Amino acid sequence: MSLVLPQTCERALLERFLKAEAMALRSVRSAQAREVPPHVLAFLRRHEEDEQAHLRRFEALLGASSWDRMTPPKVPSQWWALAVHLYGYEALGLEFAKLLVGVRPDLASILEDEEVHVGFFEGEIGRILAGGDGAAQGARTAARAWWKRLPQTVDRYLGDESLAPYRADLRRVILDSITRRLCRLGLLEGAFDSR
Ligand SMILES: [Fe+2]
Repeated sequence: MSLVLPQTCERALLERFLKAEAMALRSVRSAQAREVPPHVLAFLRRHEEDEQAHLRRFEALLGASSWDRMTPPKVPSQWWALAVHLYGYEALGLEFAKLLVGVRPDLASILEDEEVHVGFFEGEIGRILAGGDGAAQGARTAARAWWKRLPQTVDRYLGDESLAPYRADLRRVILDSITRRLCRLGLLEGAFDSR
């Protein structure tokens, strides 16, 4: 199900997307100091440039000050956990990018960038899971923990008053979409047994 929101939500959606992008940017910066495979490092450098360009564009649109002062997110050191962590922010950012393009079709290129980012991490996580060793198990455990926290993360993102009339639908659409994504990748195996 896709949701098209009215223009009154534009500012709130921009702000939410900006927040997810800023978190992704800070995580990507920290991640480059970790031990990651060389092709991942090359992607992260390009990725950082994309996120920086998005941030500048959104800050200009919002007239908002930089998010650089925000507390940097804690970034895990093992690659399998880091991949899940970055993927989570990207998947959430993509959901807001989709909603944003509904009210601002002129921002379609940003949605395309986000699809590339999410696709990259899906490929990396697919490789980790295919390895089938402790890393695969670790990635599944990290994903399950992240997914269990996701409803409260989404609630925080949907706090703005302008989103109130659509909050329940937005929550469902975002959670369903991300849950389907994680299931398709094979990250949530066993996660529904204990629920
Ligand atoms: Fe991104």
